[in-house]
Amino acid sequence: MAFESSSDAARKSPPCALVIFGASGDLTQRKLIPAIERLARRGRLPREFALVGVARSHMSDEDFAQRCRDSARRAGGETSASWTEITDHIRYVCGGYDDPGTYDKLADVLHEADSTRGTAGNRVYYLATPPTVFAPAVIGLAKGGLNVGAEPDSFARVVIEKPFGHDEESAKELYTHISAAFDESDIFRIDHYLGKDTVQNLLALRFANSIFEPIWNRTWVDSAQITVSETLGVEGRGGFYETAGAMRDIVQNHVLQVLSLFLMEPPTSFHPEAIRDEKVKLLRAIRIPRGEKIRRDAVRGQYTRGGTRGNLMAGYREEPDVDPLSKTETYAALRLDIDNWRWSDVPIYVRTGKRLPKRMTKVTLQFRRPPHLPLFPKEIKDMAPDSLVLHVQPEEGISLRFGAKVPGHTFQVRTASMDFSYGTGFPEKSPEAYERLILDSTIGDPTLFIRADEVGRSWRIVDPITEYWATDEDAPIPFYPAASWGPREAGELIERDGRSWLE
Ligand code: NDP
Ligand code: BG6
Repeated sequence: MAFESSSDAARKSPPCALVIFGASGDLTQRKLIPAIERLARRGRLPREFALVGVARSHMSDEDFAQRCRDSARRAGGETSASWTEITDHIRYVCGGYDDPGTYDKLADVLHEADSTRGTAGNRVYYLATPPTVFAPAVIGLAKGGLNVGAEPDSFARVVIEKPFGHDEESAKELYTHISAAFDESDIFRIDHYLGKDTVQNLLALRFANSIFEPIWNRTWVDSAQITVSETLGVEGRGGFYETAGAMRDIVQNHVLQVLSLFLMEPPTSFHPEAIRDEKVKLLRAIRIPRGEKIRRDAVRGQYTRGGTRGNLMAGYREEPDVDPLSKTETYAALRLDIDNWRWSDVPIYVRTGKRLPKRMTKVTLQFRRPPHLPLFPKEIKDMAPDSLVLHVQPEEGISLRFGAKVPGHTFQVRTASMDFSYGTGFPEKSPEAYERLILDSTIGDPTLFIRADEVGRSWRIVDPITEYWATDEDAPIPFYPAASWGPREAGELIERDGRSWLE
């Protein structure tokens, strides 16, 4: 288990073949291959390890190996003996995801890996394809008899990228296909935000200390905020993004996962099921937005051309593979409410967007004002409410913001900040999210992966909003210029409650 006290050095993959579907794609080249290179360099992969790519693009084994070497190098990888060993034996299977011939070829390659590389019949299939391919790939694996380990006591697991389905209905349908082929314990639904050390640190902060939990409730907390802002646009992924939008791409998964860890009840242990049970309880307590609440508490936006003269950026509708009249949201801001004893009447404000001025993910608890302030308004005019900020990225750390006296002869209180930075606080370096998650999938540790009931509940929160935006002709689609902080309406959503987005 991920949070067991086993030593760090003991976390090593067992012998296995890692098969990546969608091996020619962006995620594979930018994230997965560099993560595998780092795992190899850091001694986390055994000698009995094989890497196999599957995709429709025509490539030889050597072409694929060269691509992998190039992407590892671009990501700052080094040529370690174990990485060279892996790339020297890499295999590539070219074929359609619904073509039985692909799985016959794959079976041969895996059989060969068992005898020449010693992979012991163990397989991890990583589906790094667009979501439309998840079901055909799993059906193909099952029909080809590849959904079980090839030797006694061996395993076959499937790692599935997000988004898991398009809505609650399609997620159920996908689950039907996948669960017909794999046990729930062998299904690893990935959300790479859970692999980030700073997201896991939410658990350490809350449950390894005694000073925070007593104030982690409606008595002390006024509101919470989660911001996931990106400077990137859709980066050539217009086709995919048109089917997703910010709600399906970020809110349904990354935001709701972080939010559930941030606000869940203390688990009885760090056993995977204990943590997942608490997360799903929190997700179930989030009020499903309906009718007037959606119109009032959900704002979407779409970026238009913007930026500075030297760095002018295209509008979303001008991006490749995007409908010039697209209504897809590249920004979403929501107020969510949680119906349980701990968080009743504490609004949770969430915002995410592409082409914002700064890349930043942070989670903030804003505390209530003191019940009585023995100060004049002019003495506290520069004081914001106390807050605790968890900086997930790019800076990684924690800040406590509180009022302090300004040095001088008058009594003025201004907001001060006590900052902890991971970079300076610990000499150890955090592993990349995908490095951690790939290793966990080979080890068979599900703690940082999403359970089926979490997926369903998250869609139930998101679906009414996306449905309203997609079907109601009168639903507004406010625009914002690239490199601005989103549409004016998002500011109004929170200011109406007498609060503001914390920059
Ligand atoms: P890509 O669009 O790059 O697709 C991956 C590969 O899948 C392509 O190289 C292509 O290979 C194949 N493919 C593409 N479209 C189709 C299609 N319509 N039918 C069949 N095969 C197709 O996707 P990404 O790599 O960006 O993303 C893969 C998955 O990872 C997605 O589910 C995404 O949500 C998720 N993800 C991506 C992130 C990223 O940064 N890219 C980050 C987090 C998650 P070929 O044609 O050779 O078969
Ligand atoms: C992915 C989304 O899940 O997360 C992308 O599909 C987004 O659109 C990315 O850019 C953000 O990840 P990170 O780790 O850079 O915050």
